[in-house]
Amino acid sequence: MKSMVPDYLDAVLQGVRSDTSGERAQYIPELATADPDLLSAAFATVDGEIYGSGDVDVEFTIQSISKPFVYALALADRGFDAVHAKVGVEPSGEAFNEISLEPGSGRPRNPMINAGAITVHSLAGRDRESADDRVARVVRGLSAFANRPLHVDADMCASEMEHAHRNLAIAHMLRSQDVLVEDPTAIVEGYVRQCSVLVTTRDLAVMAATLANAGVNPLSGDQVIPAPVVRQVLTVMATCGMYDAAGDWATQVGIPAKSGVAGGLIGALPGQIGIATFSPRLDAHGNSARGVSLFERYSNDMGLHVM
Ligand code: DON
Repeated sequence: MKSMVPDYLDAVLQGVRSDTSGERAQYIPELATADPDLLSAAFATVDGEIYGSGDVDVEFTIQSISKPFVYALALADRGFDAVHAKVGVEPSGEAFNEISLEPGSGRPRNPMINAGAITVHSLAGRDRESADDRVARVVRGLSAFANRPLHVDADMCASEMEHAHRNLAIAHMLRSQDVLVEDPTAIVEGYVRQCSVLVTTRDLAVMAATLANAGVNPLSGDQVIPAPVVRQVLTVMATCGMYDAAGDWATQVGIPAKSGVAGGLIGALPGQIGIATFSPRLDAHGNSARGVSLFERYSNDMGLHVM
């Protein structure tokens, strides 16, 4: 059965190649110039087998796919109560860059939208850590998920920071409510560096497989985060990972997932596999158009709907 996987991946990629719908993210100039035709897919099993097709070793920025992993790091570093006091777990039903704060508490509704992820970034590592140490903690943590030392793309980061007015506005709002307790600009800078970490489709499949494998990286055998944290993260991915398309995704694909505006998309099937796709053109929700089609096919062809 396993020997058929590469042929299957080649065939499904071929099936979506002619779909050129959607647009590259325009609000980050470095992303607007990405090669729109790049296309890849990878599976990593919980026993450490990796299968890939297409441009699996091309690097691109992780963007919002970092959010579930840094949520995991923050939960592991600070504990559930400390994180939950600052960020909720309710789907917002809104776009990823909406303000979406709970009335009263001012808590972002969930850790997958930007408001929540900016807050979660501020909670990674120890209390009162310097901004640089926090980014180092995040990059080290993401690297442990990927089983490879990862790096920040400084050009992408600078390009995003030049146009980060919306995230800066959200962070100032969070600071005004004391959800953030440090300089909002420094936190957004750290968050943008987190989003600018370079990964390949293969890396993302391994990272997703670590979630599928109860927090144990299937390549290194290391327990990257505790199993109860993984349960929390996968649940929030299932309910909030696809933003305002979360309901369509749950019914049509049914796999806990997370997308990024560079065109990456991951899914994690507990006890089975981590799945990753990459294609830069995005649909109206900011999710990779061909990536969504690929996941729909996987789900139908292999009966992977678990939600
Ligand atoms: O903060 C931002 O807008 C980007 N760095 C990340 C957004 C993102 O990936 C949304 N997902 N599809």
